[in-house]
Amino acid sequence: MQVPNFILILGNRRNLIFRVSIVVIVGLFYVALHYSGNSAPEAEWVPITVDGSERTAETRYLKDKEREMTANFTDANMRKLTEFTSQKIAVTTMSTVNKTASSTASDVEKNVSAVPSEANILDEEPYDENVLTNSTLMALKAILGCKDKDFFPETLQRGEYWVLKNYVRANHGPVQCYETITATTHCGFEFLDNLVPLVERWMAPISLAIHAPGTDMLPSVNSIRYLRDCSGHDLVQQFVTFHIFFSNKHIPENIPNADELLKTPYDCALPAPYAVNSSSTYKEKMNLLYPVNVGRNIARAAALTHFLLPLDIELYPSPFLVPQFLNMIARNEPPLSTSNKPRVFPLSLFEIDKQYSPPQTKLELQGMLKNKTAIPFHKYVCPTCHNIPRGNEWMAKPETPLMEVFYVGKREKKYSHWEPIFIGTHADAYYDDRLSWEGKKDKMTQAYIFCAKDYEFMILSNAFLVHKPGIKYYKANPKRDKYAAKQGSFVNNVIKKELKKIFGSKPGCVL
Ligand SMILES: *[C@@H]1O[C@H](CO)[C@@H](O)[C@H](O)[C@H]1NC(C)=O
Ligand SMILES: *[C@@H]1O[C@H](CO)[C@@H](O)[C@H](O)[C@H]1NC(C)=O
Ligand SMILES: *[C@@H]1O[C@H](CO)[C@@H](O)[C@H](O)[C@H]1NC(C)=O
Ligand SMILES: *[C@@H]1O[C@H](CO)[C@@H](O)[C@H](O)[C@H]1NC(C)=O
Ligand SMILES: *[C@@H]1O[C@H](CO)[C@@H](O)[C@H](O)[C@H]1NC(C)=O
Ligand SMILES: *[C@@H]1O[C@H](CO)[C@@H](O)[C@H](O)[C@H]1NC(C)=O
Repeated sequence: MQVPNFILILGNRRNLIFRVSIVVIVGLFYVALHYSGNSAPEAEWVPITVDGSERTAETRYLKDKEREMTANFTDANMRKLTEFTSQKIAVTTMSTVNKTASSTASDVEKNVSAVPSEANILDEEPYDENVLTNSTLMALKAILGCKDKDFFPETLQRGEYWVLKNYVRANHGPVQCYETITATTHCGFEFLDNLVPLVERWMAPISLAIHAPGTDMLPSVNSIRYLRDCSGHDLVQQFVTFHIFFSNKHIPENIPNADELLKTPYDCALPAPYAVNSSSTYKEKMNLLYPVNVGRNIARAAALTHFLLPLDIELYPSPFLVPQFLNMIARNEPPLSTSNKPRVFPLSLFEIDKQYSPPQTKLELQGMLKNKTAIPFHKYVCPTCHNIPRGNEWMAKPETPLMEVFYVGKREKKYSHWEPIFIGTHADAYYDDRLSWEGKKDKMTQAYIFCAKDYEFMILSNAFLVHKPGIKYYKANPKRDKYAAKQGSFVNNVIKKELKKIFGSKPGCVL
């Protein structure tokens, strides 16, 4: 079910691959003309710079693939393909930056010295919002003014937890903070079946914290190896950085050295190490709680980019979200350019019938909503938790030609219990490390802080998340209810007081 999905995504990328291939092919053709008779074209590789789109992590990856694919071209093949070169040869020069932005962005995105006008961005025809061009990247660099981060392994402590940060790093190498977005997520190894569908749709860096107490360490490590070596493609190697964490009361007996470990390829004939009955994990046997916010915070703190999408691992984003979102930021149109409040960018959430694959576009999603193979997230579990402002209007509104802000909402009144999932930045409040998944309300303290700080929720027009296929119904869980009662009173009696002291109380902000 996942493989056709991936092919579909690649199919959608034809446009991008096509643009890159023209350049590669022109290069090869040149080589062939000058070195005809030379039978090793790859030895004569002439690097060609195009519009700089190869600088994004995603495109670097696609371009490497393209190189591999074209390295074997024969003269005959090339002759056929040079027909294309008489068409557009994508050598776009960077548009001259000539506009001083009048906009005020959020605190973090403030000091804009030079932003290309929309017209400049549109110079590079055809405008494809699924591609990040050099001038878009330059605009992002100027708008965001962010700092690049180091990318090396570290062993740290976070409260009672030990953290092996960057335990296994993605192969993408150093990342410029403005060039892409990091999805930050967390899980126990038994949920790692979600990683491949997630990376296939995201196609950008993922920072993943795995909770691996005691004997959960070995299957966690083997799952990492399996996912890197046996997924049928190298997206996991390319994009996913793994962190490991465990309580100081449950330190694994054996902590393998990651470099040593990765030297031996995993035996892909073995079953996936994460395919286990979830009640068989060390965590379950020892009756441990899942420290959901510790995982969320570790993954977020390690992200290399300015923008982040904190996700639970079973939520799959709509394809092309990264370039579509960054192009929107670079265009810097109202309300982005006119509001100077802190902001985050919520995504609409859906569940789908388990016989279906997640929709690729809003149009397809709307078809599924119509025939009820898709429904709003947690409709049958906790409808008010994920009710987004103007949700019905969002669902009815056709896909916009480019990504834009659909509506600027607040977390108040009818939406005061809203638990938005959003693209944010490192400037946003962290989640409270003390709250467990079992105890529920684990994201509410962050949402309260947003309300107190008067955040704007800029809901995105075309972006959505789909939960791993399968519609959820409310099921009583007495064990969880017990923890929920306990955690609920902790939030009310302790955390609420803390937050009011630190962030102040504001009418309409509830916890
Ligand atoms: C290129 O050709 C070699 C030898 O014919 C083959 O082993 C290799 O798989 C080919 N590569 C691609 C990407 O097709
Ligand atoms: C792309 O941007 C870089 C700056 O990071 C610049 O050095 C390079 O010349 C640009 N490429 C083109 C084709 O404009
Ligand atoms: C920017 O462009 C305008 C009109 O296109 C021109 O009049 C102006 O001199 C330019 N400014 C700079 C700094 O180049
Ligand atoms: C923005 O940058 C300019 C020059 O780099 C500097 O003079 C100015 O003080 C900065 N403004 C803010 C608000 O940081
Ligand atoms: C998982 O294990 C538990 C207890 O050992 C058992 O009750 C349950 O049926 C198992 N679930 C599956 C799907 O095998
Ligand atoms: C529901 O709609 C989707 C999208 O239009 C379509 O792919 C699917 O086959 C439909 N299913 C049913 C049961 O009508």
